[in-house]
Amino acid sequence: MKSTNQLLLANKAWAKEKVETSPNFFTNLAKGQNPRFLWIGCSDSRVPADQITNTEPGEIFVHRNVANMVVHTDLNLLSVLQYAVEVLKVEHVMVVGHYGCGGVLASMQSQHLGLINKWLRNIKEVYRLNREELDGISDEVARGNRLVELNIVEQVFNLAKTSIIQKSWNTTHKPTIHGWVYGMEDGILKELVQMDNTSELDPVFKFDF
Ligand code: CO
Repeated sequence: MKSTNQLLLANKAWAKEKVETSPNFFTNLAKGQNPRFLWIGCSDSRVPADQITNTEPGEIFVHRNVANMVVHTDLNLLSVLQYAVEVLKVEHVMVVGHYGCGGVLASMQSQHLGLINKWLRNIKEVYRLNREELDGISDEVARGNRLVELNIVEQVFNLAKTSIIQKSWNTTHKPTIHGWVYGMEDGILKELVQMDNTSELDPVFKFDF
């Protein structure tokens, strides 16, 4: 196990290497950011946005929470989304989940877990919406992985339901939203769903702009 001192030492070595390869690396980044992507991912330590996409600092604006949820009362997520879409004008927003997600698996059981019950409740609703398909999968791992996928798709729909995304689709700036799933066992990202300003949305969720 690494100590925090080791992390600070590793950081010094990393910064030195960056400057050796590209002398203006940090001075350029310090001037401002212009990322093209907003990543809404799981907090899981095994799914780091930058590393698995081989991107550099400045390229991806990131929000992470347990099980990559888009919850309409989450001021943190909504603030990140509004800033990314309206100010940074990102071109793509991706909800990125992963197979074997602990949050999703926890939502499938009945144990009382305290405060996090309230967060997992949102995933339980995704189960309820897809009960017929999920109950038909006898293998527990396969059922969990299917719920991971269905949850990602549902969170993309939740993004499309926000006034932030809908407003942006009514202006010249029209970001595409994506649902991606990451394979823990092969390190591969796969696209499950994509939505843009031409996508159908249930009228009950549509705002007039
Ligand atoms: Co997870």
